[in-house]
Amino acid sequence: MNSDATQKESFLLEMLNVSKEFPGVKALDGVKLRVRKGSVHALMGENGAGKSTLMKCLFGIYHMDEGQILFEGKQVNFISSRHALDNGVSMVHQELNQVRTTRIMDNIWLGRFPTKGLFVDEEKMYQDTIKIFKELDINLDPRQKIGALPVSESQMVEIAKAVSYNSKIIVMDEPTSSLTENEVNHLFKIITALKNRGVSVIYISHKMVEIEQICDEVTIMRDGKWINTKMVKDITTDEIINLMVGRDLTHRFPPKTNKPGEVILKIENFTATYQPSIKDVSFELRKGEILGVAGLVGAKRTDLVEAIFAERQVSEGCMTLHGKKVAFKNPKEAIKHGLALVTEERRVTGIFPNQNISFNSVIANIDKYVKKTQMLNDGQIEQDTAWVIDSMSVKTPSHKTRILSLSGGNQQKVIIGRWLLTEPEVLLMDEPTRGIDVGAKFDIYKLMIDLASKNKAVIMVSSEMPELLGITDRILVMSNGRLAGIVETDKTTQEEILRLSAKYL
Ligand SMILES: Nc1ncnc2c1ncn2[C@@H]1O[C@H](COP(=O)(O)OP(=O)(O)OP(=O)(O)O)[C@@H](O)[C@H]1O
Ligand SMILES: [Mg+2]
Repeated sequence: MNSDATQKESFLLEMLNVSKEFPGVKALDGVKLRVRKGSVHALMGENGAGKSTLMKCLFGIYHMDEGQILFEGKQVNFISSRHALDNGVSMVHQELNQVRTTRIMDNIWLGRFPTKGLFVDEEKMYQDTIKIFKELDINLDPRQKIGALPVSESQMVEIAKAVSYNSKIIVMDEPTSSLTENEVNHLFKIITALKNRGVSVIYISHKMVEIEQICDEVTIMRDGKWINTKMVKDITTDEIINLMVGRDLTHRFPPKTNKPGEVILKIENFTATYQPSIKDVSFELRKGEILGVAGLVGAKRTDLVEAIFAERQVSEGCMTLHGKKVAFKNPKEAIKHGLALVTEERRVTGIFPNQNISFNSVIANIDKYVKKTQMLNDGQIEQDTAWVIDSMSVKTPSHKTRILSLSGGNQQKVIIGRWLLTEPEVLLMDEPTRGIDVGAKFDIYKLMIDLASKNKAVIMVSSEMPELLGITDRILVMSNGRLAGIVETDKTTQEEILRLSAKYL
């Protein structure tokens, strides 16, 4: 065996010199990615760097314009996802698209049901599914409908499906973006088990800690180009970040310039009893203040902001805005009174997928753009869209681009920009930086601080301790639907917040 052959053998997958162009965007420009057998390979880069596109080229969803893919040393070019699956390559997508009305086991065996004579062999299908679930420690009934499952569990089903195809390589595109800590731990156990069996994983995430925890090697991309590949143990988080953003990002948080003043919003005894929800929550929010909301998953932080925004009914309690009692019947009324809510599941609840960026930017405030003649003020729309693209650093060829063709993170930035455009007096944000790269996070923090400096108030629900401690003035801690305490950010610690989070468990 010559040395060249030995060299090739150590890589399970090699993608070489891959290029792909969309109208107006060179999404991939001569990228290379080499993945070893049985290793977890992180693929990192800012929003729009080309990570998902590269993986879709591998998986046969996109056809690359140029380049070569070697799998187990042989040249391949999968023409469809089924073709890739049949050859041992599978992908758990950033956006899960399962058929929601079918049963779990149908989803896994779709297109290759085991048969007995002319009929589908239900029993075998059930047993085969159970066998895989046992291996992966997944506790689900294969006969259950997939529609009822939370994201975390649908994702487990997707992984089980990958295993059922005896996949040699599994791509996971931002798998933990909506998982709880326990679910993340479970996923990591599964990844380790897969690795021990010699399966390779390509792991895409914006969460830096996960890279250190679970990945062996890392490839960094920027603007559609390959930048570097390193063993994780040989590179620091800061080095990865600097390679991703292409500049020295020494400060993760902009300086605070806001000074909290008079009370703008007062919440008294907010309670929602229709189901286990918030109970007896009271607090005050000041002009120029950024108030964080911390808590464990299930603490009902989303319920709290939704109740303020009248997205949810409260059964008890009252709200005072600018010194006047208010009771909004619906979000529309809340918006009229200067409130805005950036929801957690932006991709599900916030996007008009078939519309362009312009439409998606101005839709929350459409009345503003109707002229006396009943015509739309196109100039104003264009100007405001340009503001969204610019201030949120949205990576797009034009404001006429369909939002669906943006990268996942850039779609989210448009939705956040939409709400900032309404110039809210009180901005409610639920996990605003989830799925957003480190550079863009900084921009969002800056916009929040700017808003506060203009005497507006911000409430930010977040699970990321560093950003809660980095940019808020005070932190309200929820525990099991109740208010466990409100602390001054300058005087508190991570430990105190965690202790309060567990107060009513
Ligand atoms: N179907 C498409 N049509 C047109 N442009 C596209 C399409 N898919 C991706 N792009 C563009 O290609 C570039 C790379 O996008 P990609 O989704 O690969 O980024 P990403 O690295 O996965 O980002 P994120 O972290 O936000 O998910 C972006 O500029 C995006 O707008
Ligand atoms: Mg992506």
